[in-house]
Amino acid sequence: MVNIFREIVGYVHSTEGSYGSDRAEITLLANKSVHRGEYLCIKHPTEDKPVFIQVEAAFMKRPSSSYDEKMLRDGDAVQDPEKMVGKAVCWQVGYEENGVVKSLLTPIPPLTPVYRPSPEALASFISPEGPSISLGTIYPTDVRLNLSLKTLFRQGALVVGGVGTGKSTLLMSMMLKILKNVRNPHILLIDWDGEFRSDVLEKTAQEYGGYMRIAASTKLARKEKSMSPVNWYNNFRALAGLSGNAREARTLYAIAKKLEEMGVSSIEWSQQGLDTILPMVESEDVKKRLEDLGRNIFRHAPEENGLDIVEAVRSNALVHADFSDASNWDEIINKSREMLDACYAKARTDPTFGVAVFIDEVHNFAPQSPHEGAASREAYDMMIPVMKLIATTGPRNGMPLFIATQRLSEVDKFISTQMGQNIFAFRVEDVDLERLRSIMGSDIAYSARLLPRGYCIYKGHALKIQRPVICVVDKEADVASVGKDLLTRWGSYP
Ligand SMILES: Nc1ncnc2c1ncn2[C@@H]1O[C@H](COP(=O)(O)OP(=O)(O)OP(=O)(O)O)[C@@H](O)[C@H]1O
Ligand SMILES: [Mg+2]
Repeated sequence: MVNIFREIVGYVHSTEGSYGSDRAEITLLANKSVHRGEYLCIKHPTEDKPVFIQVEAAFMKRPSSSYDEKMLRDGDAVQDPEKMVGKAVCWQVGYEENGVVKSLLTPIPPLTPVYRPSPEALASFISPEGPSISLGTIYPTDVRLNLSLKTLFRQGALVVGGVGTGKSTLLMSMMLKILKNVRNPHILLIDWDGEFRSDVLEKTAQEYGGYMRIAASTKLARKEKSMSPVNWYNNFRALAGLSGNAREARTLYAIAKKLEEMGVSSIEWSQQGLDTILPMVESEDVKKRLEDLGRNIFRHAPEENGLDIVEAVRSNALVHADFSDASNWDEIINKSREMLDACYAKARTDPTFGVAVFIDEVHNFAPQSPHEGAASREAYDMMIPVMKLIATTGPRNGMPLFIATQRLSEVDKFISTQMGQNIFAFRVEDVDLERLRSIMGSDIAYSARLLPRGYCIYKGHALKIQRPVICVVDKEADVASVGKDLLTRWGSYP
């Protein structure tokens, strides 16, 4: 425990002279600096353990003199290090007791020494219990950022960041780490432009349970739907061309009514559905006739049925829907919707089926203003409700979403709010900063203006503490757009 408090960085000292328990203002030693988002600690007043505090703002102070301005104007910048003081404003995060994070409720006294915690102490304070994946390091330490898999899968995640900041690379790293670290994984990746065509991804998926690529031209199987017995009857009668007076129709109707009275709420629209009804038909020749009609209606050969997406997901670690061959956005949206719909219906009814869904550039799939989106209004009218449903109830039905977007404000607000519980924010545009600030509940969000690429702020429930953490993301593999820009194509780089 002793070496937790190895490095002293400063002392609690308030300019105003008041000291509370939530917030602590610090004066830094001359040779120390701290950055926004960094974790520091003080000694617990009665126990030999650290109480963590986090830097919300770091700044320099230098008293101004009346002649400063005039001297600077005249080009006389006299550096005067003696006058400069480093300051930091921190908020208390708390200390751990029996696995629970608690807060110190007494004021943090003046002149309390403030330390930079040892990496081990920080890791043990932040890292979640149970299985986790490690996505990078906590800046500026080499402590790994481990996120609880259970939480990630229970909530999914939203990735935001401006152009070229590292969103797709993070999704790629996440998928690779899930593939490698989770037993029997199943991922559905919706990739509109082939950004995730990657040998590394393909080989890794193959090694850990199978890889299947689906194109926009791949025909999907129509999933059998279930319907109420009377609707089933109506459908059957319409497709068989039976009049309502026909004996077969009347028999079927009577059975449908009887089933509803018995409390049967749905029958599968398939041969199997018919097979559950036939034994209830008394007359042998009506039964024979219905059998023949049914054979005609449910006759598709399996190959005509197209690809069964649920089976594809179940029998592979990664199903990669690569829509780079699509001829328009409606095709992409409609196909994605069909796949999501089928997987969701399965996940809801079958507790052995589950899939993590990854969608990059999600503002194209669930835009805040559908009339400004890439696909037609009709396509979005059908897609957005599915996305909303999965964003809210997907995770608890074994279907979490992992989505990324350039612009927080361009994604359907309901979805971004829902998914904002677990957020990775790379450098964002100024217009999204306030929204990010409110999602994160901390000024640390403002550091998202300055983050270099590959750096993000993580805030969510997959750590022991629900405070933002700045993370340097591991790059596991290149996404396809790397090295495909115009200057590279022209060979213009030296
Ligand atoms: N964690 C990282 N470490 C090192 N390099 C990275 C990291 N993340 C991204 N990069 C590099 O930054 C560039 C942009 O990354 P990426 O394509 O993932 O960003 P993006 O936010 O998805 O961009 P776009 O908005 O164009 O889709 C790439 O060259 C990538 O290799
Ligand atoms: Mg990208």
